[in-house]
Amino acid sequence: MTQPAAPGFQGLLQGVGANPYPFFSQLRRTAPVTQLGGTGLWAVARYADCVRVLRDPDTFSSVVGVRQLTGELPPSLLFSDPPVHTRLRSLVAKAFTPRMVELQRPAIESYSEKLIDAMLQSEEADVVAGLAYPLPVQVIATMLGVADGDLATFKRWSDDIIENVGYVLLTGDDSVIAETNRQLDAYFSARIEKLRREPEPNLLSDLVHVETEEGKLSLDELLMFSRLLLVAGNETTTGLIVNAIRAFAEFPEVYDRVRAEPGLLRTAVEEALRYYAPFPATIRRAVRDADVGGVTIPANARVLVLLGSANRDEAEFERPDEFIPDREPNRHLSFGMGIHYCLGAPLARLEANVALSKLLPRVRRFELIDDPAMSVRPGGPKSFRVRFHFA
Ligand code: HEM
Repeated sequence: MTQPAAPGFQGLLQGVGANPYPFFSQLRRTAPVTQLGGTGLWAVARYADCVRVLRDPDTFSSVVGVRQLTGELPPSLLFSDPPVHTRLRSLVAKAFTPRMVELQRPAIESYSEKLIDAMLQSEEADVVAGLAYPLPVQVIATMLGVADGDLATFKRWSDDIIENVGYVLLTGDDSVIAETNRQLDAYFSARIEKLRREPEPNLLSDLVHVETEEGKLSLDELLMFSRLLLVAGNETTTGLIVNAIRAFAEFPEVYDRVRAEPGLLRTAVEEALRYYAPFPATIRRAVRDADVGGVTIPANARVLVLLGSANRDEAEFERPDEFIPDREPNRHLSFGMGIHYCLGAPLARLEANVALSKLLPRVRRFELIDDPAMSVRPGGPKSFRVRFHFA
């Protein structure tokens, strides 16, 4: 079947510009499963087709990077398939539990309050720099037991990893951040050695000591997972907080409703996740020729699963382009689906709910100062300036 031409991968990442959603909509209507011009990448745009790809890891592998295929890189949770993934996931899930996440609440509340107090000193601020970026970094640092004195160095590593996260996640090639990874690994190797002797009440220590019938996590696996937490958990959560504020600024009547009924915040955060997916596309590799929505994707093709497009699919969501703060059910794909479903979803939800609940009573209205490009890079805009109208 011949497919209409679609913009290339570069075009998808940059040329789509301020708003990828009209492009996603066009793909769903005219080329829901298509090869992106000149890139070799395929894109899947409809909800049902995205679900079909994510639910079939036998056909659509997460081992996408060349260096993983050649065995040059150790298996990572995100970039592995069963049985390797099953073993890693069962081990990390034993430490990364909903209870452990809930234990972070007091720290998240106190970090949020401090950051918000400082940010609201002025009537205008960049909410990325003031809140949405530092909060998740601090939370991960705490969970990994990074000492206060090491926080600045940890943030520098985090900045470098986050700067390159889109490329690394979409290609599986992490050579661009090799030096940072080396320093991070040296730091965490020493920490892990110490935790083996002296356990501490944090996630990293729990991971060091976790044991199931699958055995224990090796040093390489622990290092891989520490890095993954930085890559997978930071910029995405930044994106969620910024996107929620963006939606509240764009739809002041929605914000007024949520302020009047703070109980709506939980579903409003879910709607923000659906409306502006923080991680709008993930990637798979077809291990054999595979039919998706009547189109054959050839063996070895890399497939972009357009989560952000699926979230606006009119076949799945009523009035998909409206922001409905009490939408329920809301089966968005922003955290993925299937075996790789986001392990950090409860943590991201907690951080966003806590941070936004602290802003609600203090800010009557958010006003956009500039309209940053709504790029499809993970995490959304690098900076996001807002004027606050105080309550
Ligand atoms: C709003 C914030 C977040 C979004 C939108 C998000 C999105 C996603 C998505 C879409 C996947 C699946 C990728 C795939 O199937 O290829 C994923 C996996 C993952 N996420 Fe998140 N994530 C967020 C926050 C976090 C946080 C806070 C953490 C941890 C601190 C985290 C850790 C992970 C891990 C470890 C995986 C891999 C799970 C596996 O492969 O089994 N994420 N995330």
